[in-house]
Amino acid sequence: MKLWGGRFSKSTASIVDEFNASIEFDQKLYKQDIMGSIAHGKMLSKCGILTNEEADKIIEGLEEILKEIEEGKIEFKLEYEDIHMNIEKILTDKIGEVGKKLHTARSRNDQVAVDIRLYLKEEINNILILLKNLLYAILEMSKEHVDTIMPGYTHLQRAQPITVAYHIMAYFNMFRRDYTRLEDCLERMDYLPLGAGALAGTTYNTDRDFLAEQLRFANICENSLDAVSDRDFIIEFISAASIISMHLSRICEEIIIWNSAEFDFIELDDSYSTGSSIMPQKKNPDIAELIRGKTGRIYGNLMNILTMMKALPLAYNKDMQEDKIPLFDTVDNIKISLKIFKEMVVTTKFKKENMRKATKSGFMNATDVADYLTKKGVPFRTSHEIVGKMVLFCIENNKNIDDLSLEEFRSFSDSFTEDILEKIKIENCIESKVSIGSTSKANVMEMIKNGEEFFEEEF
Ligand code: ARG
Repeated sequence: MKLWGGRFSKSTASIVDEFNASIEFDQKLYKQDIMGSIAHGKMLSKCGILTNEEADKIIEGLEEILKEIEEGKIEFKLEYEDIHMNIEKILTDKIGEVGKKLHTARSRNDQVAVDIRLYLKEEINNILILLKNLLYAILEMSKEHVDTIMPGYTHLQRAQPITVAYHIMAYFNMFRRDYTRLEDCLERMDYLPLGAGALAGTTYNTDRDFLAEQLRFANICENSLDAVSDRDFIIEFISAASIISMHLSRICEEIIIWNSAEFDFIELDDSYSTGSSIMPQKKNPDIAELIRGKTGRIYGNLMNILTMMKALPLAYNKDMQEDKIPLFDTVDNIKISLKIFKEMVVTTKFKKENMRKATKSGFMNATDVADYLTKKGVPFRTSHEIVGKMVLFCIENNKNIDDLSLEEFRSFSDSFTEDILEKIKIENCIESKVSIGSTSKANVMEMIKNGEEFFEEEF
């Protein structure tokens, strides 16, 4: 008989059992479910709702079940629907009638809500560690490349020269925001739903402060109707994960492009590349592509849960059982992506010569020439036009700006003097970017210093 079978005179159709059950996926929550039940059992005895002896039996039984699950000795049954009722049934089979007292002053609605929060709090902490490792790797790489020059792009067209350290510190900033976004999310979900009952609270004089303390929640959900209806914390987490994934997809895209023969800026290590089944010469950036590809799946998970929650009346609805599928999938995929991404980048070789060479063409110092004229008193819009004409002249004569003689410069404007030849050297173009947050070495060193301070404060 079902644990809720009392009011039924017929058993459910087997297709209903199959359709209704979540045990196939929510067994992932076995540890959290047992932790929650142990805390609940302790609370019931503390409040005199169960005797100490009864609670001890329950807790001992639950601890044994945990061990047996971990030893692979337990087989969950579809017939008992979900992880909560499977464990309760196993407990009752093990310790007898007293097991049936565990569900006093509790509902599966507050039970599942606390299980997911316990799971997600732990997993967010794991993801924070992976992000921290990635941030550290980026910071170390930046230190190695403060003098490595590369083209900076807009519209994927050569724009202005920058350094590799400057480029990758941009990602440091993104992942640092991701880190703090997850911390915020963690703080907002640190509210205990257990004790909310089905929706209205309970008639028992329970101690939710004690439960919060046992389960390490900083706060208690204020409104029990909200406590069992809320899945915002999952949505917020998957949103943050979507942003992480979007950032990963951008850097992976750059890695794929840089690794191509056309760019030839980097070479991925053999251990993080794959071959082709037909073309013997191929070495493909599959890992970067797959991380980029998983972004679609994670956005899909966000749309999944947002749509599932849309317009649900309060409080619990069975629709919400579906929340775990996008949640688990997001956690698993963001974790593996962050982990493998870090390993892939730390083993990547930067081809400094090729990057430097790429800054030679594409008139990457054109803005600097315009700035030069402007500093000599020419209005910027006029300087822009003069330099535009110079670029056109260079294209027609197959030259770079650097190839022009002083006479040629002066044929475009007599504001040019000898020092222009020095000013337009790529190194000088980088070093002359003096504004806060710019690509010059002093500014990049400041970013690295701030990055190091972030590590000191956070870890
Ligand atoms: N398996 C259910 C879920 O994951 C547990 C909660 C069931 N509550 C209920 N009132 N039927 O959502």
